[in-house]
Amino acid sequence: MNDPDQEEISKRRGIYLPSFLIYGGVSGLYDYGPYGSRIKDNVIRIWKDMMLSEGNVAEYDGTSLTQISVLKASGHYDRFFDYSTECENCHTKFRVDDLLEKRNIEVRLDQDYLTRALKEDNIKCDKCGGELGEVKIHKLMFQVEQGQNSDPLFLRPETAQGIFVNFKEYYRFFREKLPFAIIQVGRGYRNEISPRKALYRLREFNMMECESFFDPENERWVNEPPDSFKVKMAANTGEEFFISPREAYERQIVKSQPLAYFIGKSFQFYVRIGLDPDRIRYRQHKKDELSHYSSDTWDAEALTSTGWIEITGIAHRGTYDLSRHIETSGKDLYAQRVIPSRKVMEEVVEIDYGLIKKKFVNDAPAVISALKNNQDFVTIKGEKIKLAEFLIKSHVEKIIDRENFIPTVIEPSFGLDRIIYSLFDQNFTTRAESGFNVLRIPSEISPYEAVVLPLMPNDSLDKVAREVFSQLLAKGGRVLYDESGSIGKRYARYDEVGIVYGITIDYDTLKDNTVTLRHRDTREQIRIPIKEIMNYVRSSPWNGKKN
Ligand code: ATP
Ligand code: GLY
Repeated sequence: MNDPDQEEISKRRGIYLPSFLIYGGVSGLYDYGPYGSRIKDNVIRIWKDMMLSEGNVAEYDGTSLTQISVLKASGHYDRFFDYSTECENCHTKFRVDDLLEKRNIEVRLDQDYLTRALKEDNIKCDKCGGELGEVKIHKLMFQVEQGQNSDPLFLRPETAQGIFVNFKEYYRFFREKLPFAIIQVGRGYRNEISPRKALYRLREFNMMECESFFDPENERWVNEPPDSFKVKMAANTGEEFFISPREAYERQIVKSQPLAYFIGKSFQFYVRIGLDPDRIRYRQHKKDELSHYSSDTWDAEALTSTGWIEITGIAHRGTYDLSRHIETSGKDLYAQRVIPSRKVMEEVVEIDYGLIKKKFVNDAPAVISALKNNQDFVTIKGEKIKLAEFLIKSHVEKIIDRENFIPTVIEPSFGLDRIIYSLFDQNFTTRAESGFNVLRIPSEISPYEAVVLPLMPNDSLDKVAREVFSQLLAKGGRVLYDESGSIGKRYARYDEVGIVYGITIDYDTLKDNTVTLRHRDTREQIRIPIKEIMNYVRSSPWNGKKN
């Protein structure tokens, strides 16, 4: 049996769909509809809850438009690009690394190498077979012009930079104690060469990023990497492991303790939202694949019907970003560590006001001002006067017990749209008997936990169903109401968007105040009293069960 086409279902059911469809749309731009927006919000809520439950994590919410100086400092302005080539016949643009990867040819991100590889392997246009043009640098950031004489702004390619430039605010918030992490959910923008696979490669996409900060002399997260489950790992040496995150750290397959910790944390998150643990792996970047800021990156990948796809990058960014912002802005983005206290003699230089007033009387202010400007000489009434003799130097004892350092950063960067794409790909199935589709996602991800369905829209069934609907809403239920169409069609409609329970109001309801509760995955039906619905829906052993 073929997996159903998630793009077709998503468009038909209002899960997600191309933006601006009535005007033909723009490639790489997608919107979430009534069901998709709720699914997306649920994924974000769980992610935030899981991250914030660490205790030493706070939220940040920054702007998308970014000042050019920030991106010059971060290296994105000069170094954030892909290599492209264009078909000389049909003018389709391709990412050169994609063309090679597809043909299992080794990728090296080097313009000369890529040019040679295209020639030597005689690679032609994937669309029309035409000749491919030269390999060019394709900048990925979108530039936004401001008014006259103002520097251009850029749409942020990652959400991280706003966090780095605000490091000091959070350092104070956390009472100057490391480690801590700052999370942000927001949009990222990249002028991708060839957007494709619906939510997979977008020009505007949703990121959930976490920047965690450490003293490099003690690069440890507050909790140990988990040891209660194993994950698949593919190291850049070619070795593969099935190993717990803790063991991966202990055996130094993953060199950094927090990196191993966030591998574990991300895995727990994926499994909780409904990705299949057997279809998740962690792949280490090869040296020439690393981003300009990273010294080690492990990508979380999900196995989809089109192969393994990256859903999250977990990178060791070292001191790269904070160092660059310190150098470029000249501002203090240091943390401090306590060191064994020692005494030092510090030179103190003061202006000798008494001597100046005695010697110069009316010209004293000019001399004082020159000294405050750090000048060595000043000219008074045509005479060049050396200023050093009007300074008093002394030494005072000072205790030094702290020193500045630049924190290192470990960053798990989750691509929300790719996670949702993988979630749908792994969980959309077609029932063999009926040919109907079902989206088997956990209740807490589901757009609604239940839908209230009167068997018929008459005979008072609709009136009672609306009362049940209102009662459930009042209890905080995430519920929907629908009375149109046959009951079978309505079940099928809500199975397809992942709603876990159908609550059917039928003729027995009128007699004994019970309803039929139907489960999406098992299609089992039970009868329960109206007053027990909410409790049952929230605590049922059916939740999360797949068959
Ligand atoms: P790729 O190699 O596929 O272009 P990347 O390595 O550049 O991705 P990162 O810079 O690590 O991606 O971005 C962090 C996460 O953001 C990725 O793991 C992915 O899930 C998501 N992401 C990146 N680019 C896009 C995009 N164009 N559309 C949707 N999600 C994206
Ligand atoms: N913040 C990770 C990336 O966008 O590359």
